Amino acid sequence: MSLPAFTLNNGVEIPVLGLGVFQSSPEETTAAVAEALRVGYRHVDTAAAYGNEREVGQAIAASGLPRDEVFIETKVWPSDYGYDETQHAFDKAAAKLGVEQIDLLILHQAAVSMFDRTIDAYRALETLLRDGKVRAIGVSNFTPAALTRLLDVASVVPAVNQVELHPYHAQKDVQQADSDLGILTQAWSPIGGITFYPGFGDERRSVLQDPAIAEIAAAHGKSPAQTMLRWGIQQGRSVIPKSTNPERIAENFDVFDFELAAEELGRIDALDTGVRSGPDPDRVFTEQMLFPIPEA
Ligand code: A2P
Repeated sequence: MSLPAFTLNNGVEIPVLGLGVFQSSPEETTAAVAEALRVGYRHVDTAAAYGNEREVGQAIAASGLPRDEVFIETKVWPSDYGYDETQHAFDKAAAKLGVEQIDLLILHQAAVSMFDRTIDAYRALETLLRDGKVRAIGVSNFTPAALTRLLDVASVVPAVNQVELHPYHAQKDVQQADSDLGILTQAWSPIGGITFYPGFGDERRSVLQDPAIAEIAAAHGKSPAQTMLRWGIQQGRSVIPKSTNPERIAENFDVFDFELAAEELGRIDALDTGVRSGPDPDRVFTEQMLFPIPEA
């Protein structure tokens, strides 16, 4: 099956669904990526800060798939922001991934307390794009205000803005700003893992347990996770569910044989709480967050 794709604002195609590897340990990552490629995934989203780019690259190489059949996305961490630093961050990431060219390279987040360096980092991405070292560039966790600040000076509109996005936090304002600018919204935690991951605060409700989603899922003979992924894809968002479990990796990919009705999409839209579960992208950076990314 050829995987449905979205066309980015520079004409590059990105599969609508990819494997996320946030919090996948290096040991788990190789097996998860191998299994995902085996069942048909053709897009993996990693990040320098996840510490598993090397394993992602190894699994892709071991799959034997032609390089141009797998879409590789990774992120530059703020400790590598700055023009020269970000160019070097590309070298580190490409070497760890074992590739010459990265399909999509994005800034992990706007570093609000050092926005000048964020801009310099983005300028480096523009150069990498012009030099053909990356096929597309983008951002992550950018608020509409941060996008405006960036676009005041940038010459390339980001292709993607990857943000926390699941039924309990749909970020309609970010989606609107992205679509006004021609930016593809990419959902991290698309099945709401962030609503139950340990270490992100207590007293949270897991969106995977939501009764409305359970009802809609049951009506289609699908799981809540599959229903949320379908909701995202049908509304034009790129989704990158994380799993290291082979059954769930396959389950999350099995979303191309059903369609949610407009009324069902609306019911899921209505679950938005407006409250994020993950970190606030507007918060000021702490020194602790600026841990160095190792050389390749
Ligand atoms: P695991 O890796 O053990 O499968 P998100 O990408 O929205 O952050 O969600 C990731 C979290 O959801 C992880 O804890 C992952 O655990 C779990 N998960 C992934 N796929 C499914 C699924 N189909 N059903 C239930 N939980 C899932």
